[in-house]
Amino acid sequence: MKFFVDTADVAAIRELAELGMVDGVTTNPSLILKSGRDIVEVTREICAITDGPVSAEVVATEAAAMVAEGRRLAGIAPNIAIKLPLTWDGLKACKVLTGEGRMVNVTLCFSANQALLAAKAGATFISPFIGRLDDINLDGAGLIADIRTIYDNYGFRTQILAASIRTVNHVADVAKIGADIATVPPEIIRKLAHHPLTDAGLATFLKDWAKTGQKIL
Ligand code: G3P
Repeated sequence: MKFFVDTADVAAIRELAELGMVDGVTTNPSLILKSGRDIVEVTREICAITDGPVSAEVVATEAAAMVAEGRRLAGIAPNIAIKLPLTWDGLKACKVLTGEGRMVNVTLCFSANQALLAAKAGATFISPFIGRLDDINLDGAGLIADIRTIYDNYGFRTQILAASIRTVNHVADVAKIGADIATVPPEIIRKLAHHPLTDAGLATFLKDWAKTGQKIL
C-alpha cells in the first residue's frame, strides 16, 4: 500500500521523505489554513520534495470555475493531482480535467454510490473519509471494502485513497482490505513504528548485553 502524507507541513513531509515514507501528499483548504502559507507557494515547495502525486483542492463549487481553478493548480507542477469535491459539479469538472489527461482526486466521498460515480467520471483517485464516518458511528473501513468490491467487480482503475485516517488501526484495516493508498497524518505515521513490547524487549537486550562487558566496535 502506498503512503501519502496528509499535511501541508513542509518540514514534516521532508523528514518523512528522507525515510522513504512519502509516495505522495494530500492537502485541502483546512490543511492550507493550518500551514499559514500561500497555497501556490506551499504546494510548489511540496511538489519539489516528492515526485509522487500532490493533491491540491479547488474551492470553486460550479463546474466551469472548478475546471479553471483545477487548470491553475495543475500548472504549479507536473505531479499535481487536482482535488475536487464529490458533488455533481465536481463530477462534471472531473470528466473535463481527466479528459485533458490531468490527475484528479475526488474527495469528500462517504458512500459506495458516490465512489461508483467518481470512477465512471474517470477519477484517478477516490478519497473516502473513513474517520468522519466512524465519528458518527458508521463504518469507515466497511466503505473501503464496499468500494474495493465494486471497483474489482467492474475493473475500474480509479485508485482507492483511504483518507481521514485517525488511528494506526485505520492504516492496518484499509491495508488488509486492499486500499491502493492511505493518506496519513505525519503523527500517525510515526506511531506506526511504536509497540511497547518492542521497547521492553530492546531494553532487556541492552541490559543483558551490558552484562557481557563486550563491545561490537
Ligand atoms: O485528506 C482528507 C483529510 O485531511 C481529512 O481528515 O481528520 O479532517 O477528517 P479529517
